[in-house]
Amino acid sequence: MQSDSLTVLLIGSGGREHALAYALTKSPLLKKLYAAPGNPGIGKLAELVPLKVTDHAAVIAFCKANGVGFVVVGPEAPLVAGLVDDLAAAGVASFGPSRFAAQLEGSKGFTKDICAAHDIPTAAYQRFTAEAPALAFIEKMGAPIVVKADGLAAGKGVTVAMTLAEAEQAVREIFSGRFGAGECVIEEFLEGEEASFFVLSDGKDVLPLTTAQDHKRVGDGDTGPNTGGMGAYSPAPCMTEALCAEALEKIVKPTVKAMATMGHPYKGVLYAGLILTKQGPKLIEYNARFGDPETQVLMLRLQSDLLELLMATANGTLKGKTAQWRKDPALTVVLAAKGYPGEVEKGNPINGLDQTFEKGVEVFHAGTALDGEFIVSNGGRVLNVTALGASVKDAQAKAYRAVDQIGWQGGFCRRDIGWRASGK
Ligand code: AMP
Ligand code: GLY
Repeated sequence: MQSDSLTVLLIGSGGREHALAYALTKSPLLKKLYAAPGNPGIGKLAELVPLKVTDHAAVIAFCKANGVGFVVVGPEAPLVAGLVDDLAAAGVASFGPSRFAAQLEGSKGFTKDICAAHDIPTAAYQRFTAEAPALAFIEKMGAPIVVKADGLAAGKGVTVAMTLAEAEQAVREIFSGRFGAGECVIEEFLEGEEASFFVLSDGKDVLPLTTAQDHKRVGDGDTGPNTGGMGAYSPAPCMTEALCAEALEKIVKPTVKAMATMGHPYKGVLYAGLILTKQGPKLIEYNARFGDPETQVLMLRLQSDLLELLMATANGTLKGKTAQWRKDPALTVVLAAKGYPGEVEKGNPINGLDQTFEKGVEVFHAGTALDGEFIVSNGGRVLNVTALGASVKDAQAKAYRAVDQIGWQGGFCRRDIGWRASGK
């Protein structure tokens, strides 16, 4: 394989990227892995480079100077900023959608219009660019109703309003400019269990990966404010094979076809957030990148060569490829700094990360930093304690045993990750 081996640059610094690095470094195709900016966990698997990711010229120059043949973009911001387009223009191959295609995540209005044009099941909706008609629409529809800011809002731009007053406040906030966009989508409230479905698309062909469920609320019992995700498990027991097939045929494939027809083929991972309603799966949103913390559980279950799959996605050769997964479920618990998702203190020491955990446990770093030789907290979501088990319950017990072996005064976690699935 030496002649095919590749130097890869991974962009990002979260738990998702640590999990991607964990899988990429298992690939026989990999010669060397760089990560920018990375974190101390990723630093054990890759050479970290202090590149400013928003400076595309600097990223390109680094790739050229260091023989990087493939760039894997983890987070959404560089995708929406067109990093993949700029790399392509400079002759550097990369994994991730173009700026235009990343609108499937970056603009809820864009995605909703594609759904409407191609009969893709989703909540009924209307787009607004001014406050008064949005408020009038809410009056007419009544509560519960869902108000979404258009554009990236780090998961914080959505209000599921159970009362009219909540909905009105959300609309006023959006048009006060808090999220920049000054545009909103108002949609029908859907009822059902939520699940995430991941596929790779090379622009023409789609390879289904697997499913997961996450816990968005900060508190036990799914209470408190929304976060980027406090834990996840894979597979999602509610996503039967029949439901995966239905989501693939009715939601994902028509979207991929629509993007190709528009002249902007979607190349990358497409992460569909679904609600399983009485009428079948409906799309809540797309993400144009891997989930965080869903990737942490996906990578523990993946048996196939991740680098090979990502390269096939980028160069249009996914047809006929398969992805193999461990049958055993995986579960991850997010350790966050006290105060998250609000203001947090940084720089608190974390102990116990160097010990050998039980077999099947991996601790992925997210917001950590090195202070001398010590690991300290450096963000909201800090560690992802992830375990494979014979059942969700087993993976859950293993993950929490490992959580209890980590010493961090300034941190907390939910104690009920996987509750919905742990009887299965
Ligand atoms: P989003 O950022 O679009 O994923 O929305 C965040 C969360 O809001 C979702 O995970 C759902 O729990 C909820 N949500 C979004 N849209 C709807 C909807 N139409 N009906 C009910 N809940 C929704
Ligand atoms: N965990 C939700 C996300 O990655 O968007």
